[in-house]
Amino acid sequence: MPNIDPKKLPKHVAIIMDGNGRWAKKRGINRVRGHQKGADTVREIVRTSREIGVKWLTLYAFSEENWKRSKIEIQALMKLLKRFVKSELEEMLENGIRLNAIGRIEKLPEDTKKALFDVIEKTSTNKDMVLTLALSYGGRQEIFDAFKKIGTRIEKGDLKADDISEQLISNSLYTAGMPDPDLLIRTSGESRISNFLLYQIAYTEIHITSTLWPDFGKEEYLAAILDFQERERRFGATSSRE
Ligand code: IPE
Ligand code: IPE
Ligand code: MG
Repeated sequence: MPNIDPKKLPKHVAIIMDGNGRWAKKRGINRVRGHQKGADTVREIVRTSREIGVKWLTLYAFSEENWKRSKIEIQALMKLLKRFVKSELEEMLENGIRLNAIGRIEKLPEDTKKALFDVIEKTSTNKDMVLTLALSYGGRQEIFDAFKKIGTRIEKGDLKADDISEQLISNSLYTAGMPDPDLLIRTSGESRISNFLLYQIAYTEIHITSTLWPDFGKEEYLAAILDFQERERRFGATSSRE
């Protein structure tokens, strides 16, 4: 692995996988073909993460706002997701990867949900890496859901307003129990967050590349990790290099 320092690996990498549509458009083919090619990139990035020892990988696969897309595209994405989790099961079991999902999963079609929950269950005791898919996910919706959870507990009397802490908020999010991302990658050049992990990325390092997701691969992923390793994370304090 060229120059990657195993002691300074990001523990948690989150990725906004963007650009499938533009990749297809450039080739004059249907957007769905871009998503299909994007699934190959997912496989490569999961493998590479496992290989280098990234413990948590979170992929933004479908946002709450993506429900605004055409019915045809949504159906194709859901079918692709179903096929993807089924086809990856064996490799996930071999490599100790646990599948996890965050978002309003209940909104997914029944057959997609069934395939997803099946793989989540079958990989639930795996310990080497956690692959989290953000599906029907929105950061604001997640915060809204957390407020509701906390509010209900207060209403029931098992919590007081004074008990609310940063820890309690973290534990009320979909990502409860997960570390915050150290590195956030966005492909296809857009400089925005698009409602991803709003609370969790307070001190995450951001890496934006103009490469479209289907063209992203191992080499560029490793380069993004190298770039991360060269940064100095100060968390609001003064530089230790001074
Ligand atoms: C990302 O690619 C995949 C999803 C959002 C599901 P896009 O479909 O957003 O591709 P562009 O941004 O149109 O190129
Ligand atoms: C963000 O990409 C969501 C996913 C990658 C799943 P979008 O393509 O939906 O984001 P915008 O519309 O460019 O902000
Ligand atoms: Mg996009």
